[in-house]
Parts: sequence; C-alpha cells; structure tokens
Amino acid sequence: MTTMNRLTTPWGEFGLTRFPEHPRDTLRAWDAADEYLLRHLAGAEAGQGDAGQPGDTPTDAGPTGDTLAGTEPTDLSGTVVVVGDRWGALTTVLAARRLEQLGADPLVQITDSYLTQQATRANLRRAGVGGDSVRLLSARDTPPERVDVLLIRVPKSLALLEDQLHRLAPAVHSGTVVIGTGRVTEIHTSTLKLFEQILGPTRTSLAVRKARLIFSTAAPGRTRTASPWPHSYALPEGLGTVSGRTVVNHAGIFCAERLDIGTRFLLRNLPRRHGPEHVVDLGCGNGVVGTAMALENPAARVTFIDESFSAVASAEATFHKNVDAGTAAEFVLGDSMTDVPAGTVDLVLNNPPFHTHQATTDATAWRMFTGSRAALRTGGELWVIGNRHLGYHTKLRRLFGNCETVAGDPKFVILRAVKR
Ligand SMILES: C[S@@+](CC[C@H](N)C(=O)[O-])C[C@H]1O[C@@H](n2cnc3c(N)ncnc32)[C@H](O)[C@@H]1O
Repeated sequence: MTTMNRLTTPWGEFGLTRFPEHPRDTLRAWDAADEYLLRHLAGAEAGQGDAGQPGDTPTDAGPTGDTLAGTEPTDLSGTVVVVGDRWGALTTVLAARRLEQLGADPLVQITDSYLTQQATRANLRRAGVGGDSVRLLSARDTPPERVDVLLIRVPKSLALLEDQLHRLAPAVHSGTVVIGTGRVTEIHTSTLKLFEQILGPTRTSLAVRKARLIFSTAAPGRTRTASPWPHSYALPEGLGTVSGRTVVNHAGIFCAERLDIGTRFLLRNLPRRHGPEHVVDLGCGNGVVGTAMALENPAARVTFIDESFSAVASAEATFHKNVDAGTAAEFVLGDSMTDVPAGTVDLVLNNPPFHTHQATTDATAWRMFTGSRAALRTGGELWVIGNRHLGYHTKLRRLFGNCETVAGDPKFVILRAVKR
C-alpha cells in the first residue's frame, strides 16, 4: 500500500505515485512545473503570473517573463515527445488525453531513469492507458526522426539538458512546438542559453506558483553541432589499480566532470581480495569502483548496477577501456539489488545517493543496505562510503548487528558490515 495523491488537470483527475512505492512516502509524483505545463497545453492558463515577487525570479536569469499570449490549446495530434518527466505525470496525463484522439501515434517519453520508467508504467496502468499508447525511450536510445511537440521538464543536470537538446535538435522543424518547464530555481540564464544556442530564439513565461515555462522556436538553417558528450578524463595518481586510468562519463551522471572526493577516498582504501568471488558495484555511476576491483582481482566477477541508463552505459565503457577482454562483468539497469538473487554475493561496494529527483532522503540508502544484506552470502561484506554526518553506521548496525569503520578522515567514513 502507498499514499496515492490525485492530480487535478483540465482533462480530469489522475491518481499518481512515485517508484518504488512506499507506505510512508507522502511525496507527490508531480509538482507546480508539471501542472503549469499541463494547464498551458490545455489552453487553461490565464497568463496571470507572479513574476517580480521576491524569490520567484531565478537569481541569474536575464530574460524577464512574458505574459502568456493567448490561451489556445496546443495541438497534440502529431509526434509528441516528453523529455525528463520525473515520475510519469506528464506522460500519463497526455497519453490519456491522446487516447481520445483516435489514430494518434504513441506518445514518446525520454528519460535517463529506470525509476521514472517504472513509475510511468504503474501510473499509465492506473489511468487505463495501454502500453502501446506510449513508447518509453532511454536517454541513450535514438530519438524519433521528427518531433511536432517537444515538452522538456528541465533536468537538474545542465549537461543532460545539453546532450538531450543536441540529440533532439535534428528532429525539430519550423512548426515544432517546444516548451520547457521547471521550478524557477531550476531555470538559470545558462539553461535558457542552451535552448537558444541549440534550438533557436527562446523566451520565458511569467512565474506561476514558483514555476516557469520556456518557449523556443527552431531557427531555420542553423548549423547543427554534435553533443560534446560522453566526456572522458584521466584519474590522478595515488588511486591504486586505477591510477592514471581513463573513465568515461555520459551526460548527467554523478560527477561526470571529475572524480567525487568520497569515491577518491574509497579507491584509496579498497579491500584487497584474491580468487573467484562475486562483487557488486551498487550505484555504479561511471563504474570506476567496480573497475578498480576487477583490476585488483582479475578472478572476480563484477556486477555493475545503476538506475541511470547513462551510468550503466558509462560503467560498461569505463570497464572495457581498462580491463582485459575475458574478465567477467555484468551491467545491470535496475533498482538497487532487486534483481540480484539472494545469497549469491561476496562483496558489495556502495557510495549511496542521498537525494532522488530533488528529494533529500535516506530511503534509497536504506533500500540499498537491506537489498545488499539479502543478496550477500553468509560471511559476505558490504562496504559503504559516506559523509560522516549521514550516520550510516547506525543503520548498518541495526541491520547487520555489526559495523566497523575501515577508514575515516574528517569528512568521510568507510564502513564495513558483515552478514553473519
Ligand atoms: C553517489 S553516486 C555514486 C556513483 C559511483 N559509485 C561513484 O562513486 O562515483 C550514487 C549512484 O547511485 C545511483 N542510484 C540512485 N538510486 C538508485 C537505485 N534505486 N538503484 C540503483 N542505483 C541508484 C545513482 O544513479 C548514482 O549513480
């Protein structure tokens, strides 16, 4: 059971949840930016913004918002693409709306998140929208060749936005309706510059309930440039087996530009192990931790797991760039340890996330720890790196009945819990 909230739209009410569903999760699966866009698409936005109120205008955003001209509903009959939907609210409402338009092509959702896809599937089912009404694409899939309506929920990562706009620009034509949406705190001058540079002339709406819309039109004859992603960088010395090695990063993944200082500390203090064993790099990001383990112990089989499509693709590229062909490895897109059979793992290495889609929460860390305990064989170990203040040791002790500090500095601790 979970708390399901209901989103009221001009086209009806929708019961929506996040993924994974949790009985104590009262967080809504949409926000004011999603609502603003839906009202605008339905032609139900009065155009009365609250721009100018303290705190509403993005700190560094130059362009001032325009009052929305007209309130005509947007024609949603062509190829509609929704990018960056957080929990599938936009996709579900628009797909349900399009069901009423017989013969409409499937709506396309593009996301980098497996959790988003799972939430979307559940929300579509609940709304009675069949699977063939929506195509779920990942940020790494080839986008449609021609797009008539492009709706972009501005992502937290500017790099991901840059990469997605580059990938979609060839599909945008002079008649394409391009609308971005985000909370005012998510839309900066740099965000608008990307729309302007990659697509064409861009303006913003007034802020309404601390959300804003972005409107772009395709500039004719614009020379298209390729996405600058993926990005590779060389690791510094002093990091054991991965010193000086190259890591590959697709846009939007954790620490795509440089190594995280917590990860750096973990790499300096990795377990020394030999012989056949099954290691999991849980929340693998660019895969640097699992790759270091594979180089340390070539007899190990390493499973890389992440909920980000781009992270799993980055880990695969990092691994193959550095480890001999023939070394066993698997690359798994999924939620935490859900797909790993119980009692099959010898060692889990984990640098847990502490926020998911803007919400600061330790729910994911807890899920990763409980999932790891189930997947470990007796005697197997979970190694966790985290900021000292996060208090992971309390959770691990509660769950495993033991927890030891392997290494620490003023900021970070590496903790080890053994399954007894
Ligand atoms: C703090 S980053 C660590 C990345 C990498 N291990 C490193 O140290 O550079 C946490 C990672 O967990 C992933 N993640 C978040 N929620 C997840 C989930 N439910 N299941 C699997 N991975 C998840 C994120 O995409 C991110 O790559």
